[in-house]
This record gives sequence, structure tokens and C-alpha cells, in this order.
Amino acid sequence: MTVEIRAVSHEFQLESGETTAAIDQVDLQVADGEFVVLIGPSGCGKTTLLNLVAGLYAPTRGQVSIDGRPVSGIAASTGYMLARDSLYPWRSALDNVLLGLELRNVPQAEARERALACLDLVGLADFAGHHPAQMSQGMRQRVALARTFVIEPQLLLMDEPFGALDAQTKVLLEQQLMDLWERRRPTVMLVTHDLEEAVMLADRVIVCSARPCRIKEVLKVDFERPRRVDALRFNPEAQHLFERLWYSLKEENHD
Ligand SMILES: Nc1ncnc2c1ncn2[C@@H]1O[C@H](COP(=O)(O)OP(=O)(O)OP(=O)(O)O)[C@@H](O)[C@H]1O
Ligand SMILES: [Mg+2]
Repeated sequence: MTVEIRAVSHEFQLESGETTAAIDQVDLQVADGEFVVLIGPSGCGKTTLLNLVAGLYAPTRGQVSIDGRPVSGIAASTGYMLARDSLYPWRSALDNVLLGLELRNVPQAEARERALACLDLVGLADFAGHHPAQMSQGMRQRVALARTFVIEPQLLLMDEPFGALDAQTKVLLEQQLMDLWERRRPTVMLVTHDLEEAVMLADRVIVCSARPCRIKEVLKVDFERPRRVDALRFNPEAQHLFERLWYSLKEENHD
């Protein structure tokens, strides 16, 4: 799916009458099957931008289109993975993965088979019956990954999906994301604060300005695919891109 963000601005209106400008005149096109990563200072408007693409609310000005049609409400072919794993604590890993399929009325036997296959892909086949409280944070995020991919989204929105993990687990999950993504190559918009993650995953990194979010810089990342995340981590060219992003962001973090 293609995403087209055209002259989009967004302001939040508080009850006090105060307004917060979150997005300012953003133009961005994401090609079918492209993996775009958004970085930017905290509070600059990244989550707001994802929410606008998800159709959770309409922009104050401008238009967001998916495959040429204006977005209205979250589409069945869109997967949205939030910052926190947001699993239902009373459901087992399997039942959490099944959730999206139930909502889409996939027949029970087929749904179960697909959910188990997805849990297997993230290395959790033996934990299907475990509840979130019985799993580590990394395992919970793998369940969330499985839940996101089991619906075979054509557009995938991810908001800091691996935020609260140690470096090693993070690389493991980034690799699982790369492998899952390679199977069908959905269009991805992923937000992260981890600049190495941005370089390792993206076809393009979009650097957002401080609030209100404008596009400050766009960096193309040309490493061949499929990628090995752990190998790229120590690649000199990746280090160079990482440095560029670091200094680009640093300018935005000045008050
Ligand atoms: N529902 C809302 N109502 C009012 N203001 C909001 C709302 N959602 C976000 N904002 C404001 O919009 C601005 C951008 O918020 P947003 O969550 O998009 O930032 P972000 O870039 O995702 O930050 P972070 O990196 O910390 O997650 C902030 O000033 C925030 O206070
Ligand atoms: Mg955010």
C-alpha cells in the first residue's frame, strides 16, 4: 500500500481553549513495500503522525491517503503496534495472537493454525498457553509482534515497538521483525528513538524537527536485503549514517 501525506498540519484543542500545534505542513510519500523509520525529539509529533495515518483522527489541514483514497477510520489491512506491548493480561499468548483474527471473523480452525504458526516464527511455540504475567518483557513483545503480523497487514504502523528492552534482546527482535517483514513486505512506518535501529531497519530515515513536527531531513539507507541486523551493527557505513542522524537530531534538541 502507498501512503500519501499531503500538506498535513494538526493542532490539538484543549478544553481550556489552548491549542498545541503538533504537525506543521508535512509532506511525505511512502511507496508500496517501503520501510520508513521516523525519528525526532520527544514530544515532536511522531505518534500523532502515525495516528493520523491510522485514521484515528482527521488532520486539521491537509490530507492523508492510502492507495489514493483519503483515510477514514482504521482499515482491516492496517496493523498498529503500540509502544507498550498492550497484551490482554487475562488472555494466553495464543489467545492474544488470535484477537485480530477473531475481529476479522477468520474461521476458528484456520485462525488457530495461523496464530500458532506466527508464535512459532517468533520462537514462542512452547509458550502458547502462557499468560503475559508468566512471560518476560521480551517475550511479551514477541507475542505482540506475532499478533501484529498474523493479520498479514499491508500497512504496518509501529510506535517504538522495542523501547523497553536490553540491547541484545532488541537486536533479536529487530531480526525477527526483518524476517517477518521479508515474507510479504508490507509498507512500514516505524517510530524509534534508537538511531542504530533506524539505520539497520530502514529504506529511508525521516528526521523530524522539534514540535511542531516538520520534516527536517531524509536519509536513504541502501544496505541490501535481506539484512542481518547484528552484522550491520558494526558496519562502518552504518556507523557513518548513525553519526549523521545523531548530529541532525542534536540540532533539534537545542532549546
Ligand atoms: N490527545 C491529545 N490532546 C492534546 N495534546 C496532545 C494529544 N496527543 C498529543 N498531544 C500533544 O502533541 C504533541 C506531540 O505529541 P506526540 O505524542 O505526537 O509526540 P511524540 O513525538 O510521539 O513524542 P514521544 O517521542 O515522547 O513519544 C505533544 O505536545 C503532546 O502534548
Ligand atoms: Mg510517541
